[in-house]
Amino acid sequence: MSTNEEIIGRADVDDVEAILSVANDQVDAVVHAVRAEADALFTWDYAQTRQALVKLYEKAKTSQWNAHDLPWETDVDQEKVVVANAVQNPSSGLLGQNMDVTGTPFEKWTEKEWIQLGIESQNWTLSQFMHGEQGALICTAQIVETVPWIDAKYYASTQVMDEARHVEVFARYLDTKLSGHYPINAHLRMLLDDIIADDRWDMTYLGMQIMVEGLALAAFGFMHQMTTEPLLKQMLRYVMSDEARHVAFGVLSLKEYYAELGAAEIRERQEFAFEAAVRMRDRFLQQEVWDRMGLPVEEVVKLVLQVPDRSMFQNMLFSKIVPNCKKLGLLDAGDGWLRQRFTELGVIAFEDWVDTGEEYAMLDEVAKDRETAAATA
Ligand SMILES: [Fe+2]
Ligand SMILES: [Fe+2]
Repeated sequence: MSTNEEIIGRADVDDVEAILSVANDQVDAVVHAVRAEADALFTWDYAQTRQALVKLYEKAKTSQWNAHDLPWETDVDQEKVVVANAVQNPSSGLLGQNMDVTGTPFEKWTEKEWIQLGIESQNWTLSQFMHGEQGALICTAQIVETVPWIDAKYYASTQVMDEARHVEVFARYLDTKLSGHYPINAHLRMLLDDIIADDRWDMTYLGMQIMVEGLALAAFGFMHQMTTEPLLKQMLRYVMSDEARHVAFGVLSLKEYYAELGAAEIRERQEFAFEAAVRMRDRFLQQEVWDRMGLPVEEVVKLVLQVPDRSMFQNMLFSKIVPNCKKLGLLDAGDGWLRQRFTELGVIAFEDWVDTGEEYAMLDEVAKDRETAAATA
């Protein structure tokens, strides 16, 4: 059975045993190889005819930034940051406030354990962002090769540079400001492997630009809002400026391509989008953190899946993905298969939120900072 059938065939999308059966058994390996089957395409048509992509490419060229220019001298005391974040976001439950932990493995926890959990969660989250960014680096290099349009090859080449910078900043932040790395989460790795291995060029876009980056944009926005740490805040502001372009690239390209596809091909894209959504939801259950905290993983994951408030953070992650899928026509194509699946996953409420086709100009914080600097000079 392929991993895809495993997800589509899961009777209950919250089946904890199925979720935990996926684990990273190669945590000590330095290299992970994935065979890419897609053809590298030359095009002899050099005319730039896709104006939306031309505009995006020009924006990407002028809004580059240098990772070295971030305020790396900022002193980060991780324990203090965890406490300050919890104080600033009292409803977040970051330190176990407002939660009834009676009869759970958290029952005997004191503030010390809650702070440690906050530290581990941050190490884990930033590690997964870093690994995901490397996935984006590889996927966009692949898109340069496989997409048949010259405008898209040009734009994708700028994204390769953006993603290298993102891997660079997350790795540097982890190494110099935090207290430990985590290996890639197995659900995330499976998803990246599937995206890279697929030989259809548009699947790289759908998996990476729409699903992974759509989620990243929402997650970075959430973290940017929650954190009290100024270096991380500034780093996320700039990373998000880039990510908004990346998601726009996916929406603009696929909108054109999907208009040509037949019903059976569209259904394959709907299934791919749903599988990606479930893998990303599964990865956010952070099984590795519970394990490192010495907790019974299965019991805690079951608990997490039942907390009504998890919807706030977790479902927020889908706030970009669902409207973008709608804009691409994936939500309602055929018999509305994906609408039904997203309803079961509890994320359909986002369908009419702003899609990311045009949002990138508004989110260009790099350009805004330059304008401010020029005005005060
Ligand atoms: Fe990125
Ligand atoms: Fe990106």
